Amino acid sequence: MVTLSPELHKRLSQPLQIGSFAVQSRVLQSPLSGVTDLVFRRLVRRYAPTSMMYTEMVNATGLHYVKQLPKIMEVDPNERPISIQLFDCRPDFLAEAAQMAVAEGADTVDINMGCPVNKITKNGGGSSLLRQPELAGEIVRSVVNAVNVPVTVKTRIGWTDQEITILEFARRMEAAGAQMITVHGRTRSQGYNGPAKWEWIAKVKQVLSIPVIANGDIFSVEAAVTCLEQTGADGVMCSRGTMGYPFLVGEIDHFLKTGQEKLAPTPIERLECAREHLQMLFEYKGDRGVRQARKHMTWYAKGFMGAAELRGQLSTIENVQQGVEIIDRAIARLQEYALAGQPVELEESMLAGVG
Ligand SMILES: Cc1cc2nc3c(=O)[nH]c(=O)nc-3n(C[C@H](O)[C@H](O)[C@H](O)COP(=O)(O)O)c2cc1C
Repeated sequence: MVTLSPELHKRLSQPLQIGSFAVQSRVLQSPLSGVTDLVFRRLVRRYAPTSMMYTEMVNATGLHYVKQLPKIMEVDPNERPISIQLFDCRPDFLAEAAQMAVAEGADTVDINMGCPVNKITKNGGGSSLLRQPELAGEIVRSVVNAVNVPVTVKTRIGWTDQEITILEFARRMEAAGAQMITVHGRTRSQGYNGPAKWEWIAKVKQVLSIPVIANGDIFSVEAAVTCLEQTGADGVMCSRGTMGYPFLVGEIDHFLKTGQEKLAPTPIERLECAREHLQMLFEYKGDRGVRQARKHMTWYAKGFMGAAELRGQLSTIENVQQGVEIIDRAIARLQEYALAGQPVELEESMLAGVG
C-alpha cells in the first residue's frame, strides 16, 4: 500500500505555477509522438480533468514552409490546460511557430530538447541542443519574446553518461526565460533503456527557482510518490505508463489530492476503453485512425487471460467494425471466465506489447 506523507501532501497542495499560468494538478501527461493526439488526450482528461497535457511534437520548419496547421497541432477549444510542443533548432522559426501555437489555444509553449531520434538530432533539434547550450538559450529567448504565454523546456540529463550537463543547461534555460523545465532522467545515449536517474532531477531542483517536473519511469502511483519524495520535484510527468492505460495520470492525481488509491480498472473496463478509443480515432481520422489504433489496441491488451493472442489479432485490424468485434468477443470471454470463478488477471510486464 502506498502512503502519502503529510509533508508531500502539503508541499504539492498548491497549484503548479508556470509563470503566470496556474495548473490545479501536479501530474502531467507527456507529449508522445504518434500517441497524444486530441483523441488520446480526451481520454486521459476524462480521469484527470485538471492536468496539463501536451500535443505531439510539431516541427517548426514544417510550419514555416507549409503555413498550415498539421492535425497533430489541433487543439479542442474545450481542452485546457494544454501545451503545444515544438521542435527545431531555428530560433526564428520556433518563434513564428510559437505564435501559431498560441493562436491555436496553447496555454504554454514547450520546446523539445530531449528527443533522441537520429532524424531529429542530425538536424540540430531535440536532445542535440544539449550539446549546443548557447543556441538552446537563444531559442528560449526568441520564443519568450514572441509570445505572451509561458515558455517551457523538456529535456534529458545529458548526451551520454560521460556528458551529463543538465545542471549548467537547466540554469541557462532559466536565465533565458523558461518558466518550467521537465527533466527526463536519462541521457540521449540511453534512449528509453535502463532506469531513469532521478538523482539528477533532485540536483536540478536544488539549483533552479522555476518549477522542475520529473519524468522517466513513472508507471504507477507508487513510482510517482517515490520519485516526488526522492527528487523534491514540483510535479511528475507520465509517459509510456499511459500507453494503453489513459487512467494513470488521473490515478496519481487523485492519490496526491486525497491520499486514497483509486480502484484500478478491470480488464473488461480497459477493453471497453480500448473499443471507445478505436471508435473515436476512426471518427477523427477515418481509416488512417484505424491503422494508428492498432498499436494502441495492442497496448490495452495486456495483463489478462488471452491477452497475448488478442494483441496478435488487434495488431492487424483492417477496419473499425473488425476491431470492435474482436474486442467484444474478448470481453465476452473474460465475462465467462469471471462467471466460472476463474482468475482473469495475469501478471505481465507493464511494457508488454509496448514497441
Ligand atoms: C512513443 C514515444 C513518443 C515520444 N514522443 C515524444 C515527443 O513528441 N516529445 C517529447 O518531448 N518526448 C517524447 N517522448 C519521450 C517521453 O515524453 C518521455 O520523456 C520518456 O518516454 C520517458 O518517460 P517514461 O520512462 O515514463 O516513458 C516519446 C516517448 C515515446 C516512447
